[in-house]
Amino acid sequence: MSTFHTALMTPLATQISAHWTAPLALRFDAALQAALPQLLADEPDAVAAIAALLDAAAVTPDAVDLPALDRKIRKLQKQLRARACAVQPSLRVVERLDALLASELPEIMDAAWAPPWLHAAEMRWLDKFNVDLGNYPRWQAMLLEAVADVPDARIEDVAAGAAGFLLWLAQHCPRTDLHLTASDYSADYVALGQKAVAAHGAGGLPLAVVQRDATQLAALAGQVDLIVCTQATHHMPPELVTRLLHQGLRAARHGVLIIDVLRSAGAMLAASVGTNLSTPAPPLMIDAMQSVRRGFLPAEFALLAHLAGAHDVRAYAQGPAYAVLRARRD
Ligand SMILES: C[S@@+](CC[C@H](N)C(=O)[O-])C[C@H]1O[C@@H](n2cnc3c(N)ncnc32)[C@H](O)[C@@H]1O
Repeated sequence: MSTFHTALMTPLATQISAHWTAPLALRFDAALQAALPQLLADEPDAVAAIAALLDAAAVTPDAVDLPALDRKIRKLQKQLRARACAVQPSLRVVERLDALLASELPEIMDAAWAPPWLHAAEMRWLDKFNVDLGNYPRWQAMLLEAVADVPDARIEDVAAGAAGFLLWLAQHCPRTDLHLTASDYSADYVALGQKAVAAHGAGGLPLAVVQRDATQLAALAGQVDLIVCTQATHHMPPELVTRLLHQGLRAARHGVLIIDVLRSAGAMLAASVGTNLSTPAPPLMIDAMQSVRRGFLPAEFALLAHLAGAHDVRAYAQGPAYAVLRARRD
């Protein structure tokens, strides 16, 4: 798979995404980003109502009308799309195509019936994919930039699966003063991560692997400097991502770094071709495409970050296939 990715899949995916549909997705994204400040300024009541629900959900989620929170967020998302198209009517076709591409059908790995061996196989494949495509060094650079001025920085990677990224970081990081925790709400993945850490033995940075729901981070307040989340927000509806951001921004003084797949037809095609040729196992082939369809555009992350109370927000595409959000409260 390694040779295959290096020789064929990476250049192919890059060419398809960069020269074909990612530019359309990014043009649409630029229009959404441009329309965002005015939307937030024009809808103070909706923004305040969402903030109040998020505050309550951080303390007593069971007592909060979460479907109402979801509806309010989705309404603003729709308004943002409509505003972008009103300014640039030529984007209406792109908007329609993007709406057809976007899907909220769950991935197979999230199905209740998915057996533990499938979870383990998908996570192994994802880890290998990230290594082969050089994702981990790129994510490390972003993470180190986020805590450049923070000695002994405490970093938690939430929804970390089997801890693949932090395990790699622990072995390769040029800094030796970082305190790393990988968390996931799935006991299966936490057990896999703990096994992998034990297998690596001594050497590298210490890494704890714990079970935690990424939408219940309030208890971490003051115990963490940066919350990281990679390739996981596409498993969550916007309401859950907003709760993750809201609590992560308050728990971690240096904010939140999210990296996830960018929704674009080119990236979906590349994921399909790539998995078909490299790992032709139907669940992986379907999940690779479905991940991209469930992905976010950077402007969508920016909207959710503002609703979660961030004041310093940077949302951008990294290459043709990834969306990055860097958000802080101050
Ligand atoms: C595709 S995996 C990504 C794993 C890892 N971050 C990576 O980049 O390889 C998505 C992970 O999100 C986790 N997840 C989804 N919703 C979550 C939540 N609310 N809290 C914690 N973990 C969650 C799943 O259990 C799964 O391990």
